[in-house]
Amino acid sequence: MKALLLAGGFGTRMRPLTERLPKPMAPVGNRPWLEHLIAGLKEQGIREFVIAVKHYPERITEYFGDGRKWGVSIRYAQEPVPLGTAGAIKNAEKWLDGRFVAINADVVHHADIRALAAEHERTGALVTIGLVEVADPSQFGVVEQTEDGRIVRFVEKPPREEAPSNRINAGIYIMEPEVLKKIPSGREVSIERETFPQLIAEGCRVQGVPIGGYWMDMGTSERYRRIHWDLLDGKLELELREKERGGGIRIGEGTEIAQGAMLVPPVLVGSRVKIGERAVVGPYAVIGDDCVIGRGAKITHSILWDRCTAAEAAQLNRCIVGSGLKIGSRHLLHEAVVNVIPEAETI
Ligand code: GDD
Ligand code: MG
Repeated sequence: MKALLLAGGFGTRMRPLTERLPKPMAPVGNRPWLEHLIAGLKEQGIREFVIAVKHYPERITEYFGDGRKWGVSIRYAQEPVPLGTAGAIKNAEKWLDGRFVAINADVVHHADIRALAAEHERTGALVTIGLVEVADPSQFGVVEQTEDGRIVRFVEKPPREEAPSNRINAGIYIMEPEVLKKIPSGREVSIERETFPQLIAEGCRVQGVPIGGYWMDMGTSERYRRIHWDLLDGKLELELREKERGGGIRIGEGTEIAQGAMLVPPVLVGSRVKIGERAVVGPYAVIGDDCVIGRGAKITHSILWDRCTAAEAAQLNRCIVGSGLKIGSRHLLHEAVVNVIPEAETI
């Protein structure tokens, strides 16, 4: 079975981090989430991928190329204009043959795709949608089901009081290729607002199946942070390059920690990082590769992407800092999400 990964959204709710980066490329535990996703799907036997790209596509295509380095094959379906979630799938039609799994690439999860596909096969559905339960479904696609799991209503982002249930679309679909025939080409089509309601109205079998395990839509900076704290707390399990040094401290290769600096767990420090004297890193800090943490700097509840500098005595609390950004000496940042345009791109 091939996997179609939807990775072309503008990530507006995660700006400025996604200003020049597709949301699925945001690092989770110091590696692009999309890389974890592809590796996880490969573990489940998926070897052929199509990635639907639009926003800064080269950030994805240049990173993964043809996928060989990851032991998979990757093709790209690039939209001339944003085509929406169904339009993007339609645009990839030429790469799809037979049953496939379509996945919102910004969702962090451990879904068992094989179990979902087995249930799809058992019920003979046209589409099987993976479901999760959340306390507030109003930010998601919400479903109403019959007792046998058939979806009889799909409503995207309803006002909270109008949500028919707490079961929401997890953004993972097993699809029969016939669905592609039902999506119009050449215009924007939302799978949530148009295709699913239409299939249900036509009486097609659209099945909803709960997926177990961890699930979180990256969506906002707040949820992006939550994903990291869950990773540090062990609620989200991912393969990390950094070695566990005991007591909730993980450190990458070539990292230098000065005498008198303090790592307060849980904490994840990447490779080739330099941490100066009397600096305090953690609790809940994720430091990207090649960062420099100056003398006496303090980083708590924050995520720094790679190549960042927090100069002497800088203090960061509840911050997210984009790649290559320098925080000046004695600068104090609280609850900031900051990013910088790479020098090569500055006009
Ligand atoms: N190629 C392409 N083109 N991809 C797109 C486009 C597009 O025009 N629009 C969105 N995407 C991609 C995004 O990059 C993301 O990976 C995925 O499709 C979902 O888009 P979001 O913008 O993140 O949607 P959402 O989180 O508000 O809602 C969706 O996901 C929820 C689960 O996380 C919906 O599918 C909801 O029903 C669902 O509950
Ligand atoms: Mg999303």
